[in-house]
Amino acid sequence: MTTTFDFSGRTALVTGAASGLGLAMARAFSGAGARLVLFDLDEAGVNRAAEQLNADRPGTVAALSGSITDPAAVEAACAAALAFGGRLDVVMNNAGISGNAPSLDLDEATWRRAIDVNLSGAFFVAQAAGRIMAEQGGGSIVNTASMYGVVAAPERAAYCAAKAGVVALTKVLAIEWAARNIRVNAIAPGYVRTALTETLVSQGRLDLDVLNARVPAGRLGTPEEIATASLFLASDASAYVTGQTLVADGGWSSYSYL
Ligand SMILES: NC(=O)c1ccc[n+]([C@@H]2O[C@H](COP(=O)([O-])OP(=O)(O)OC[C@H]3O[C@@H](n4cnc5c(N)ncnc54)[C@H](O)[C@@H]3O)[C@@H](O)[C@H]2O)c1
Repeated sequence: MTTTFDFSGRTALVTGAASGLGLAMARAFSGAGARLVLFDLDEAGVNRAAEQLNADRPGTVAALSGSITDPAAVEAACAAALAFGGRLDVVMNNAGISGNAPSLDLDEATWRRAIDVNLSGAFFVAQAAGRIMAEQGGGSIVNTASMYGVVAAPERAAYCAAKAGVVALTKVLAIEWAARNIRVNAIAPGYVRTALTETLVSQGRLDLDVLNARVPAGRLGTPEEIATASLFLASDASAYVTGQTLVADGGWSSYSYL
């Protein structure tokens, strides 16, 4: 995948890189010349992703497995990226899960898990990366929020609360770290076909025909479309943009008629 952005000489860490949006981001960064460290809970998947990218650009991609909910594993991943590339220029703070259920039935474990991964995990990654970036004199962090951090939908109490938290976290970290030359922004995708949405479709919690009819663009987004919008936020093309959430949703959140 080629993009208009040039990340040659830069090192990026991508979380949730084994699948979906994270994998598309990894491919986009690789196409733009970056060195990459991929981090994911799915060890086989993240190793496979690194192998595929290294086949095109040998020795440019490393893979690590672990959970973003484990601060020690996250620190190790950031340290590995620093060791691999000599700098940690970009972090795509992307790993996340769903956890949808009617609020009257939502069990404690599902609530805690969705908040733990989507919000606490995102903070641990940003904090560990921010410490390295502060030390080296700058960097760019892109958090994957969701349009459901900006607008709401039923049966998504934990997910919406966590993603709204990511939007708020993005602003707080941006203003705290701006003087250190660290930018923090968020990408807020609408519906995109990935393993996450396929699971919801197979559980009967999403109907693709209904979604296609609801979104002004008339279709779901592609992982590549989210990746290229994210690369803009990571790149010097957005050098004066910080604390912002870029909603990439085919017009969904602007449309309130139905
Ligand atoms: N697909 C969509 O429609 C959509 C829309 C809005 C936002 N998002 C967000 O985009 C991000 C990526 O979602 P996706 O659709 O690519 O999902 P996905 O399920 O295809 O990929 C998510 C990846 O994250 C990994 N992961 C999950 N928990 C982890 C953890 N604790 N530590 C490390 N890795 C972990 C998974 O193993 C998987 O490889 C998520 O934050 C999601 O909330 C997705």
